[in-house]
Amino acid sequence: MGKPHGSQPSGSQPSGGKRLREVRLRVRLTAGLAALVTAIGLGALSGATPAGAAGTTLAGLASARGRYFGTELTQDLLSDSTVTAIAGTQFNMVTPGNEMKWDTTEPSNGSYNFAPGDAIVSFAQQHGMEVRGHNLVWYSQLPSWVSSLPTSQVQAAMESHITTEVSHYKGEVYSWDVVNEPFNDDGSYRADAFYNAMGSGYIADALRTAHAADPNAKLYINDYNIEGEGAKSDALYALVQSLISQGVPINGVGFESHFIVGQVPATMQANMRRFAALGLDVAVTELDDRMPLPATSADLAQQATDYATVVDDCLAVSRCVGISQWGVGDADSWIPGAFSGYGAATMYDSGYQPKPAYNAVVAALGGTGGGGGTGGGGTGGCTAAYTETQQWSGGFNGQVTVTAGSSAITSWTSTVTMGGGQVISASWNGNATWNTAGNVMTMKSSYNGSLAAGASTTFGFTVQTSNGDYAAPPVTCTTP
Ligand code: XIL
Repeated sequence: MGKPHGSQPSGSQPSGGKRLREVRLRVRLTAGLAALVTAIGLGALSGATPAGAAGTTLAGLASARGRYFGTELTQDLLSDSTVTAIAGTQFNMVTPGNEMKWDTTEPSNGSYNFAPGDAIVSFAQQHGMEVRGHNLVWYSQLPSWVSSLPTSQVQAAMESHITTEVSHYKGEVYSWDVVNEPFNDDGSYRADAFYNAMGSGYIADALRTAHAADPNAKLYINDYNIEGEGAKSDALYALVQSLISQGVPINGVGFESHFIVGQVPATMQANMRRFAALGLDVAVTELDDRMPLPATSADLAQQATDYATVVDDCLAVSRCVGISQWGVGDADSWIPGAFSGYGAATMYDSGYQPKPAYNAVVAALGGTGGGGGTGGGGTGGCTAAYTETQQWSGGFNGQVTVTAGSSAITSWTSTVTMGGGQVISASWNGNATWNTAGNVMTMKSSYNGSLAAGASTTFGFTVQTSNGDYAAPPVTCTTP
């Protein structure tokens, strides 16, 4: 059991399918554009699942904005049909809560146990979800055999652990949290077994070792209390800048985001943007927003605002690839066990009914609200997923992947809704018309209307932005 992170100074947070792969490989081979692979893969994925087809699920709405929406899941919940129904429909990314941590995967030196992690991966694959591997090197939930090794043996143990675990899951995880929580809140390095043995160089070594074992997995450093600007996020920023300049393989930074109601940092968007500007993906990896129990309606309303703020922040940063909530609902959340007196931290209540935060997230993602269960809304016969293909100062190119549902279609209509300072200046692969206000482009299929069940086509457009708004536009798809 990991220790909850210590008590916080005010204003900061203590923290604490196979089919898909085939689709993604095909896209990778044909497009050859690594940056697009994930977004297209997820878009294609969600078109193939109830989550995406529903259009009103978190996953479907997020993928229409070029993002994923994930959840944390533990093995014990796989036998709870209420939880699995929501997890498998509303979300398209899974992070194992504990099953891939060192104390589970290598409880004693050289003896590995991947059964719990495998169970989560097969659930994900059965439900068309991707997996965030979590995590490889962390001071907590670290078996005592590692911390009691002589320092001269720690590097070899770390490298074997990483190589064995990453190789086991090669091709099955979207990303790895290679190093978890390496910093203290003041921005100094946490003096754990790895740091004590190797200094801060253990981080580069861990990343290189993971990359060698699975060159296609996105490699992350993940931490808490780095969501806003401050000493800790500055230290992480300096670290990743230095790693990049040394050519160390790093692809992303994970912002855990264990928040307290009313305390989402005002600098979160700007902070994510500066990391993204280094050429990194950013992700909200462990979102929850706790409050004193019993929850009041005022706190639940504030929580809805907080969740929407986080979604808005991610949508505003083009390299923000997705958001994962830590837990499916309040009943399975780690918060009451880790922060005494606190709870109600997720979008689903203790009976797995959607809370105001759920509706706020749906609205922030551009949906119409309602739902929240496992049924899903009307499918309309197609789904749309947005991807940004290019960005420059003052503009960007967007692409929408239209995917037919479970039956063939002969034509489709997709809408793209622009933000205040955004104007579409060109479009291709469809017949575009505009609403009176000029902010909604309706794209009707032309030569590309006939799609077999599950097949995709794309159209594109160029956007000029006058106010620095590069946010992904919401997109929809319907068939007559
Ligand atoms: C938590 C799990 O949810 C708990 O079940 C476990 O007892 C402790 O760890 N930061 C992380 C996660 O990166 O791995 C932690 O997960 C929560 C804080």
